[in-house]
Amino acid sequence: MADTTRLFVLRERPKGALDARTLELTTRPRPSPAAGEALVRTRWLSIDPTNRTWMDPVDGYLPALELGEPMRGIGTGEVIASETDALPVGAHVSGMLGFAEHAIVRPEEVTRLGPHDDPKLAVGPLGHIGATAWFGLTEVGRPEAGETVLVSAAAGATGSMVAQIAKKLGCRVIGTAGSDAKCAWLQDALGLDGVIHYRKEALDGAIARHAPDGVDIYWDNVGGPLLDAALAQLALGGRVVLCGGISQYNAERPVGPAAYLHLIRQRARMEGFLVLDYLPRLEEARSAIGPWLEDGTLRFAWHEVDGLAKAPEALGLLFSGEHEGKVVVKVAEASR
Ligand SMILES: NC(=O)c1ccc[n+]([C@@H]2O[C@H](COP(=O)([O-])OP(=O)(O)OC[C@H]3O[C@@H](n4cnc5c(N)ncnc54)[C@H](OP(=O)(O)O)[C@@H]3O)[C@@H](O)[C@H]2O)c1
Repeated sequence: MADTTRLFVLRERPKGALDARTLELTTRPRPSPAAGEALVRTRWLSIDPTNRTWMDPVDGYLPALELGEPMRGIGTGEVIASETDALPVGAHVSGMLGFAEHAIVRPEEVTRLGPHDDPKLAVGPLGHIGATAWFGLTEVGRPEAGETVLVSAAAGATGSMVAQIAKKLGCRVIGTAGSDAKCAWLQDALGLDGVIHYRKEALDGAIARHAPDGVDIYWDNVGGPLLDAALAQLALGGRVVLCGGISQYNAERPVGPAAYLHLIRQRARMEGFLVLDYLPRLEEARSAIGPWLEDGTLRFAWHEVDGLAKAPEALGLLFSGEHEGKVVVKVAEASR
């Protein structure tokens, strides 16, 4: 068994939510690196809502996966065999390692982690999640102290960071979440100024109550009815940061906002962004966020799932909301 590896391939395109037929776990001979390549053993696999979008038949910001193709995924891991001086054995890297125990990579395809970098944090607050929150908020949302920021999926990986960074920048922050436990965490542990249980409360009334002067920035992780409700209550000069639309990722025909005319009335802006464009500047986000993590003033919750075989199940959690924090799969134990 030592010279084999396991990986998921896309077997069937999901119609709606993914199910047991979508991804198939296969065992293959373990590949050896050719000249210029390294073999990486995946340690942490990041489970991201966008994994679902890559299963659709149409190209998105990345090409659509072909049927039978290995499932893409962001991860961190350790080089265990190498034919390139740029990635010596023992080096830790992050990048598109796939839903797989091992990956063959070239140096230009991955980021090498520093000797003191925690490989788990590199798929969370000090990796693409932190960069999404930091650049999306500061460069797309552009908050000013005193403004009111509404964040959807605020108890999730990205939302919880956005909410806390906005607080640090002097904003009033309202978060939405889908369970009592998540709402309590937002209020008690993160100290948000208001929380809305979007499954229980009427959205229009709840937003108006928490943001009587309107919403200056709406951070959208979900789309759907929440986006419409937020658009209807934008303040003059409001900004809608389109980060994601998870409520639409399983839909055959995603539904757009009906309340978009409020953008005109309120001279407001709605803008999408992709963290990929900011990854070359990752260090800027890390140097802002790192000290807050270290001094404990920025909290980050994890939902750890054990073993590659459970990766599809872990992806399902993002859509049911039955997780508390960033969903990661521990594919292998630590060597450091
Ligand atoms: N633009 C970019 O570059 C970029 C980068 C990273 C992430 N994103 C996007 O950011 C969003 C959050 O990603 P994440 O990784 O941080 O995941 P996450 O927030 O940790 O998990 C997803 C959360 O979405 C909520 N949700 C699921 N289905 C929903 C529905 N139908 N309506 C409302 N809420 C629903 C659930 O929270 P509740 O239990 O509270 O409902 C769930 O916990 C996603 O849309 C993702 O695609 C974008």
